[in-house]
Amino acid sequence: MRRKLEKFVDPLPEIRLLKPYKKTKDGAHYEITMKQFRKKVHRDLPPTTLWGYNGQFPGPMIEANRDEPVHVTWLNQLPNKHLLPVDVSIHGLDQLPAVRTVVHLHGVETKPDSDGHPEAWYTNNFRETGPAFSRKTFTYPNHQRGSLLWYHDHAMGITRLNVYAGLAGMYILRDKQEEALNLPAGDYEIPLMITDRSFNDDGSLLYPSQPDDAADNLPNPSILPAFNGDTILVNGKIWPYLEVEPRKYRFRILNGSNTRSYRLQLDSETLFQQIGSDGGLLRSTVEIEEISFQPAERIDVIIDFSKAAGQSITLKNDLGEGADPNDETGEIMQFRVTKPLKNKDSSHLPSALSVIPSLKQNDISAIRYLKLVGSSDEFDRPLLLLNNKHWHDPVTENPRLGSTEMWGFINTTNFSHPIHMHLVQFQVLEHQPFDLDQYNIDGKIIFTGPPRPPAANNRGWKDTIEAPAANITRVIAKFAPYSGEFVWHCHILEHEDYDMMRPYIVVDEDEYDE
Ligand code: C2O
Ligand code: CU
Ligand code: CU
Repeated sequence: MRRKLEKFVDPLPEIRLLKPYKKTKDGAHYEITMKQFRKKVHRDLPPTTLWGYNGQFPGPMIEANRDEPVHVTWLNQLPNKHLLPVDVSIHGLDQLPAVRTVVHLHGVETKPDSDGHPEAWYTNNFRETGPAFSRKTFTYPNHQRGSLLWYHDHAMGITRLNVYAGLAGMYILRDKQEEALNLPAGDYEIPLMITDRSFNDDGSLLYPSQPDDAADNLPNPSILPAFNGDTILVNGKIWPYLEVEPRKYRFRILNGSNTRSYRLQLDSETLFQQIGSDGGLLRSTVEIEEISFQPAERIDVIIDFSKAAGQSITLKNDLGEGADPNDETGEIMQFRVTKPLKNKDSSHLPSALSVIPSLKQNDISAIRYLKLVGSSDEFDRPLLLLNNKHWHDPVTENPRLGSTEMWGFINTTNFSHPIHMHLVQFQVLEHQPFDLDQYNIDGKIIFTGPPRPPAANNRGWKDTIEAPAANITRVIAKFAPYSGEFVWHCHILEHEDYDMMRPYIVVDEDEYDE
């Protein structure tokens, strides 16, 4: 085991805002290059070799305004050898170059050719490209609500490794309605990307090449069924601290981890005031003691430190305190209320935040029930599937452009999966428990209770939602404004890679009329 690292010795890094290299009538233009680089992630660890957008982890922040398009040319200048162990036994990866990338902006509404389709990958300098590759510059129209989006790698079969190596960053979309609220801003609005990693004593990233209890017949490397790192990083530093003033702050928090979910708590009387979820502001502020969030989910919270001058407050993860006394993941970072108040805090925390029309008013064109299923492969490894289909099976979900559908995720496994749909922000209707033992005997769904509405902080717009074990999670989405092929998947990256991802097609019927 790695030697213990002292907590709260490094300051939280600020994430640099990237300036566009040009602005034109059709929007802001950026060029971002994926590179290998070295960085110190903790005072007492030698530098770690990472991959990052513009050689940074997290990648640079892009800030955009609603209705002002952003164009990004995502360049790959990574080495030809992967930083981490690539399992080539899945998805025919033995036929493909080891280092392939494609960028997806998570939560965005854009056309398929800018969405980062997993098979639109390319290698260093676009030397080789995947079957779905069609363009070097992606366009994000930004005709959507203000929200915290994030960009990350999405290459087929190696997303977990590319993201773990550091290919992830954040993107803030602003809108006027939100600005009018006078929430804490500027120095008092802070993005936090929470991730877990493991390290070797020499500072290098540790990602096991096989599961712990690997049978002899397993390929090496072999994909893990899940991966939890033993160390928590925020904005690329291990267990950092942040000095704050005694006033309100707004934190835009992303769970950028591969598998790990968190239940956030503060070790003080202070509560979170949650104002937003994946797709932007909630209808009204939710005062909340602990917040659970799964990989890829975002939460937008206000923390008021005004009564905490002089105190140190730890952001804790209630899920980290397992049976293992060596487990240190119960803590995330520390806030030190040590700075003097610069100016009177004139920011507001309104209770009414935004208007969210309910999609339940729409005509429902289709209801699809989709099972989250566990099976196994020829090496007896766990193989997780969506509706018993593999990635390469023909498309089965094909909503009409502009239609509203209800999708029910029937989780027949015994753990949660964060289910994510590209293109849309959806609304969560309910979770309904069923008898999993019965299901395992005869495949029948016998409900064991009435549907439960989503938690108050999950009643806004969402693009990723926890589908708990032995529950049907029903969501409703309007498939617009673009047609074409997108994907939906579990956002536990080890699951997404094998094989909990499916293409889906938004069908524009007018295209067939001619
Ligand atoms: Cu954040 Cu398809 O992913
Ligand atoms: Cu996405
Ligand atoms: Cu999953």
